[in-house]
Amino acid sequence: MQILMIDNETLRQKSTPVKDINEDIETLLAGMFELLDKHQGVGLAAAQIGIPQRLFITRIGKDIPRAFINPSIIETSGELTDYEEGCLSMPGVWAHITRPKTIRVQAWSEKGKPFTLDAEGILARVIQHEYDHLDGTLFIDKLSALKRERLLSKYERLKKIKK
Ligand code: NI
Repeated sequence: MQILMIDNETLRQKSTPVKDINEDIETLLAGMFELLDKHQGVGLAAAQIGIPQRLFITRIGKDIPRAFINPSIIETSGELTDYEEGCLSMPGVWAHITRPKTIRVQAWSEKGKPFTLDAEGILARVIQHEYDHLDGTLFIDKLSALKRERLLSKYERLKKIKK
C-alpha cells in the first residue's frame, strides 16, 4: 500500500460507493491508518492508495481516529474560513484554501453503523478535503490558475531536490 502522487490519473476518478462493509474494508482501513501515521497526515482517502471507493479516514491530534464510509456532506455553513492545506499526494507544499467553516456529514462507520457528525475547525476542513478526493477533486483545483501554477512549479522543484 502506498500513496499515489498528484499526477496519477486514479486521483481524478470519481470513486464508487462501498457495497458491503466487511472484513476487506476493515483490513483496508487498518492499512490506511498505518499509512496515515507513517506519513504523519491528518486524513487519507482510499482513492489516494489507488482504491477508488467512497471512504476516507481522519486522525487529528488527540481526536479519535474516524472512518467515513459512503459519506455525504448534507449541510455547510454560509460562513467561510481560510486555512492552510496540504495533501499527502503532494507532499511539501501548502496553500490557503477557503471552505465552509462548519459542516454536517452523514456516513457509515467501520462497523457499518450510520452516523451524523457536526464538525468545525480542522476536522471540518479535513473532512471536506478528503470528501473532495472521492470526486476526483484536489485542493489545488480550488486555487486561481496563477496560484495553482506557482504551487505546481514549487512542488516540481522540491521533487527534483529530493531525488
Ligand atoms: Ni489530499
